[in-house]
Amino acid sequence: MNFTHYMPTKVVFGYGALDGLGSEVSALRASRVLAVTDRVMVKTGLVDRVTSRIVPPCDVFDEVEAEPRVEVADAVANKVRERAYDLVVGIGGGSSMDMAKVASCFATNAGSARKYVGNNLFSNRQLPSIMIPTTAGTGAELTVASMVTVDGHKQWIKSPLLLPTVAIVDPEWTLTMPQSVTAATGLDALSHNTESYLSSMANPITDSAALEGMKLAVGNLEKVFADGSDRKAREAMSLAALLGGIALHAKMVYGHSIGYTIATRYRLAHGVSCGLPLPYVIASYSVACAPKMKKLASAYGVDLKTDDSVALGLAAAERARRLVGNLGVPTTMKEIGVPEGDLHALARECVEMYPRQNSPLVFDEESMGHLYEMMWEGRLSS
Ligand SMILES: [Fe+2]
Repeated sequence: MNFTHYMPTKVVFGYGALDGLGSEVSALRASRVLAVTDRVMVKTGLVDRVTSRIVPPCDVFDEVEAEPRVEVADAVANKVRERAYDLVVGIGGGSSMDMAKVASCFATNAGSARKYVGNNLFSNRQLPSIMIPTTAGTGAELTVASMVTVDGHKQWIKSPLLLPTVAIVDPEWTLTMPQSVTAATGLDALSHNTESYLSSMANPITDSAALEGMKLAVGNLEKVFADGSDRKAREAMSLAALLGGIALHAKMVYGHSIGYTIATRYRLAHGVSCGLPLPYVIASYSVACAPKMKKLASAYGVDLKTDDSVALGLAAAERARRLVGNLGVPTTMKEIGVPEGDLHALARECVEMYPRQNSPLVFDEESMGHLYEMMWEGRLSS
């Protein structure tokens, strides 16, 4: 067993963690700070709550959009190169944190954002950064990638240099998340843990995180959906998202790829677009990932006295589909309005645009088309 795993980020977790921001900033000897966020965060007052804890001068870049285009990455690059910033703080969901992460690298690496789309293209060391997630889903505070939309397609800037210096994960921030955001971000966290567990790049560190992350999300997502003020369940979801960030180092399998093909077309939140395929993905990987199915099913709360991986996978998939449905999220492609005649074109886009070399289950256009048909009809087994 050989593996490489990056874990340089200091994690400060728990209710009240944000109170430690000032001391983290001074420990990093920052003299000029750039906060990266979006306008909603500014409007809700969350950005003020963060910047009031930062003593050195702090400017705010608030132009981050959902699924940010590469032009937004260029805008944040221009901003961070304007002055001699020595710390970047990301406040918000995955998009804001992704843009804060690239800003920390663009400060010391010249040229346009497009130049860095791909793997390991930064040559100079990045600025220190602190990430403050305000949802419980993306895990972006602990990952080596930032997503950018290039000419309408999702692409990635990947580098270990994107790993933040500090992640301050305070569940307090998530207590006011609207119900629909709670559902979508929670499904994203569950998908990250589950898909990473099914990846052929999984290692004992990512597996441990993924199993615990799945267990926490399955056990608490319906609770926070029903009662957003449930502090214990919110804390568990923040932890599930954080563990998903660790698990993501194993990379995801085809659930997210499928999600990318439907998110923009059918105006679905990212977490909804990958929550819908999740049950079908679990069921379809039950042979390719047979030795892992017992633990996966157990993390999904399935207590079956069998070693039959197909039965275990199907039971876990059924639990996943019940969970998705209980959150008011569509569980079939038909429900979101995909015309039956489009299924094979979407399947082709999925395998051509978003291939997964780390998937132990290999799909071609035809077998992926079959999976899309199952997702359209709502069939978990063929
Ligand atoms: Fe995701």
